[in-house]
Amino acid sequence: MVVILLGPPGVGKGTQGRLLVGALGWERLVTGELLREARRQGTELGKKAQAYMDAGDLVPDDVIVALVKEWLAGIPGEIGVVFDGFPRTAPQADALSRSLPEVGRSVDGVVVLEAPDDVLVKRIAGRRSCARCGRAYNVHYDPPQREETCDACGVLLDQRKDDTPATVRHRLDVYREMTEPLIAYYESGLAPVLRVDGNRPQEVVREAVWQTLVEELEVG
Ligand code: AP5
Repeated sequence: MVVILLGPPGVGKGTQGRLLVGALGWERLVTGELLREARRQGTELGKKAQAYMDAGDLVPDDVIVALVKEWLAGIPGEIGVVFDGFPRTAPQADALSRSLPEVGRSVDGVVVLEAPDDVLVKRIAGRRSCARCGRAYNVHYDPPQREETCDACGVLLDQRKDDTPATVRHRLDVYREMTEPLIAYYESGLAPVLRVDGNRPQEVVREAVWQTLVEELEVG
């Protein structure tokens, strides 16, 4: 089975994607995370992606499509897949529609998470993580005990370079222009599109996503 998580930056794709694959034992592709890892390792891909990511722009389609194809080829056919942050443009969606049949798959459903822009900007501005242990925090919703410090490691928390309010606003514009039209693309008969209100506590959103997948796609 293949499920796409679609939605603007900060709506909770990563949060809900993690919970979903944890519950189902599926694999999750997060293009943003693959790119950040490539940057940490200083690979050619990472160097190519850096300026685009820091500015809040999309990395070129050919780079992303090659990355996704390589990842997909390594996942056994019987394991379900959640795409988080991909596809993000019409050429990426077309490439996915062409590639999936080659590995005996198709898109089973698209979960669209939604929340108002001011909520998204606040969430993203509050996001922090520990570079040492990887634990995620949010200064508004899940703060560390000591300001800006990891509870477990005692080191200062990191903030993503593209998480400043100005860059987030730009990422939202890019989402509206390049990615939101994919909702209509899938609604044109390619796959069921399932809308979930992401402007509720994480646990409530998790339950709603789960219910939707059980009812509409008979997942679980
Ligand atoms: P990527 O890493 O994919 O970022 P994004 O799509 O902008 O999404 P985010 O990670 O910011 O948000 P999210 O929806 O996952 O929310 P989260 O769960 O973390 O991409 C980064 C960059 O990489 C792009 O700008 C681009 O340059 C490049 N890139 C990636 N994929 C690409 C592609 N396919 N093509 C081209 N370029 C690509 O939640 C956010 C915060 O809110 C967290 O702190 C969380 O704890 C909190 N939160 C979540 N849910 C709730 C809730 N219900 N209530 C309260 N707080 C909540």
